[in-house]
Amino acid sequence: MSLALGTTTGRSLKGHVRVPGDKSISHRALLFGAIAEGTTRIEGLLPAEDPLSTAACLRAMGVEVSAIEAGKTVVVEGVGLDGFREPESVLDCGNSGTTMRLMLGLLAGRCGRHFVVTGDDSLRRRPMKRVGGPLAEMGATIHGRAGGNLAPLAIEGCQLKGATIRTPVASAQVKSAILLAALTADGPTTVIEPVQSRDHSERMLRAFGAELTVGGAGQTEVTVIPGARLKGQDVVVPGDISSAAFWLVAGAITPGSDLTIENVGLNPSRTGILDVLEQMGARIEVLNARDVAGEPVGDLRVVHGPLKAFTIGSDLIPRLVDEIPVLAVAACCAEGRSRVTGAEELRVKETDRLAVMARQLGAMGAQIEEFPDGMTIQGGVQLHGAEVDSETDHRVAMSLAVAAQIASSATTIQRPEAAAVSYPGFWNDLERLQA
Ligand code: S3P
Repeated sequence: MSLALGTTTGRSLKGHVRVPGDKSISHRALLFGAIAEGTTRIEGLLPAEDPLSTAACLRAMGVEVSAIEAGKTVVVEGVGLDGFREPESVLDCGNSGTTMRLMLGLLAGRCGRHFVVTGDDSLRRRPMKRVGGPLAEMGATIHGRAGGNLAPLAIEGCQLKGATIRTPVASAQVKSAILLAALTADGPTTVIEPVQSRDHSERMLRAFGAELTVGGAGQTEVTVIPGARLKGQDVVVPGDISSAAFWLVAGAITPGSDLTIENVGLNPSRTGILDVLEQMGARIEVLNARDVAGEPVGDLRVVHGPLKAFTIGSDLIPRLVDEIPVLAVAACCAEGRSRVTGAEELRVKETDRLAVMARQLGAMGAQIEEFPDGMTIQGGVQLHGAEVDSETDHRVAMSLAVAAQIASSATTIQRPEAAAVSYPGFWNDLERLQA
């Protein structure tokens, strides 16, 4: 499939948009609801391919999950901490790294049961030892290709031991897998991260009744005391700031734009994009800041204006790891040369996002120099239309659509359907906001 985007220069973006539910919180609400006792009701769950993968895996293990449709409350009937049935077939995580990594943590401790997890071509290339390694320290048995690093992975559930684990990368997926394994370990488990990653698991596990403490300089140490029973909850999922990011950048770079993005999750472990846009001098306002079911939420208004180059280093990366592709687009329109360092994690996302963005934006005339752990992007360069490709990566597809906004001629995006992994209505919203 390909999508032709006309010469959109001058087609300003105006109006209000509601981005779909936060992907990270959606996965967690489904998974934690499944291992709780009683019913969990989830409002605003992201109705996209990734959470559908999580729901399908849970159903294959005997968990009742109601249909996932836009605007509908999703109901999960929990089976308790040890209630998963052994699935009769392989569990397919699709494109979703969060599904696979968090499930590894959940399945490793299910004594006497055998599980096999796999995924699509992209997911089967992504490193899983970062989760399997720490789980092995807790006594888990996980086998797979490349010494257990690549799916398909086979898990023999067993009683896990509590442990203190230092993770070399700041990754919420790794941290969350360990925290989930820790819930039924034989003693306390502490995870220590180099820099704090997103803390949705900590917040939501606590709300479900887990015994969990967070400490250390910079909130980098999380301890779980096993034994607490989890109780089903009512969860309200805010809009995904990682999806809002496309509109924030599109509004900031497209002349004449004035957009309001409603109901966006503003958890401080996710708002690095706002800090960088502020650094760039973007005209962004937070309106109506409030707290919804344990997560900060607000509306974001963005108005077009001149931008300056940014510098992003390793300390900031965990707070905007998914927003670098679209920030690369913003950098092309800024005054000066922007620089990203400490971002080697981008190479093991759905695609190698440093290489893919350098290649695809390069085809539109961007001047990007790629390094092992980052890139520099020359600002003030007029992009031109081109035939580009999402390379099957949802965030690349949407970032290229934002770039097409300010290109001097028409752009064709190959494989735009990738956007449905996290934002199924993206192309409709784009058309509506351009109108
Ligand atoms: C996620 C964490 C991030 C992010 C991913 C979702 C999560 O990955 O890139 O899209 O829900 O925990 P890492 O934690 O591996 O950086």
